[in-house]
Amino acid sequence: MVMNNQLHYIPFALFLCLGLLSFQATSRTLQNDPMYEMHEQWMVQHGKVYKAAHEKQKRFGIFKENVNYIEAFNNVGNKSYKLGLNHFADLTNHEFIAARNKFNGYLHGSIITTFKYKNVSDVPSAVDWRQEGAVTPVKNQGQCGCCWAFSAVASTEGIHKLTTGNLVSLSEQELVDCDTNGEDQGCEGGLMDDAFEFIIQNNGLSTEAEYPYQGVDGTCNKTEVGSSAATISGYENVPVNDEQALQKAVANQPVSVAIDASGSDFQFYKSGVFTGSCGTELDHGVAVVGYGVGEDETEYWLVKNSWGTQWGEEGYIRMQRGVDASEGLCGIAMQPSYPTA
Ligand SMILES: *[C@@H]1O[C@H](CO)[C@@H](O)[C@H](O)[C@H]1NC(C)=O
Ligand SMILES: *[C@@H]1O[C@H](CO)[C@@H](O)[C@H](O)[C@H]1NC(C)=O
Ligand SMILES: *[C@@H]1O[C@H](CO)[C@@H](O)[C@H](O)[C@H]1NC(C)=O
Repeated sequence: MVMNNQLHYIPFALFLCLGLLSFQATSRTLQNDPMYEMHEQWMVQHGKVYKAAHEKQKRFGIFKENVNYIEAFNNVGNKSYKLGLNHFADLTNHEFIAARNKFNGYLHGSIITTFKYKNVSDVPSAVDWRQEGAVTPVKNQGQCGCCWAFSAVASTEGIHKLTTGNLVSLSEQELVDCDTNGEDQGCEGGLMDDAFEFIIQNNGLSTEAEYPYQGVDGTCNKTEVGSSAATISGYENVPVNDEQALQKAVANQPVSVAIDASGSDFQFYKSGVFTGSCGTELDHGVAVVGYGVGEDETEYWLVKNSWGTQWGEEGYIRMQRGVDASEGLCGIAMQPSYPTA
């Protein structure tokens, strides 16, 4: 079914990093710094090239701060997760967030839809939709704030596989280019529910191959919009702040969720069950593709991110499930929704 229109939008404040980084030139040459070689190796490993010397110096300074943060965190050693030096290591947390996390959050607590899984009583203790072939390989949104499109596409790919038997990688770029008449604004942000709305009106979505990802706002290619590889008939919101309801939904299909992914721990998450720190200022769209119980009995949600496979556990994060706060860790239970066949 289609939702009513009484959405209460709260524009998400975007902290764009406008030259806030002051960098003090030191007389000491970079080469004398013990971390210089480490930075060089990291640049080679991740194919980083800096055009100007001052840019390299600035990035090196940020890199060092991040390395120190990660090492200090891992050395404390009493957390269930580890941080790692990934391809985001030369970005401050502000820069990192500004370029990627643009879920334009709104309160959908007032938008009550049918919840088709309400009466589900039997849920497995663990679910992994990847093992059922309902999850495409991890994608990479790059420096475009269209996490909302990746989140909506992941759950749409899931329901399409579960109803047709075919796993088809679908086009985020079509949402970025063509879903522009409502609240969704391509790389500048959007909402998963609005993406579902677009897919319904558009009579489906093209394949990734037909309408490939560019990572920038483009013009809607009408030729491609004509072909729809997967359709949905509607979408539903999971009752808010209810992890048990979320579990019922995820037991039946991959689900789109919004989370607060603004912290440094999220930026550098490497492995284990993530237990924070994060708040509930929803700024990022991802997809829950399963759940389970970790080595130390910590329950988790299995979350597919869109930051490439170098981040986290091959592009995934296991986030603590069943926390004391009803919003769930990082607000994961605040705005879940899923498309219906
Ligand atoms: C373990 O982590 C907590 C914070 O979660 C901290 O307060 C505590 O000091 C740490 N314990 C040790 C032994 O490092
Ligand atoms: C749940 O069960 C109640 C009572 O049998 C029924 O009225 C309701 O329609 C069911 N809801 C769903 C979503 O299936
Ligand atoms: C639109 O898609 C068609 C078919 O793939 C392609 O041939 C054409 O170049 C695209 N047009 C633009 C403007 O990208």
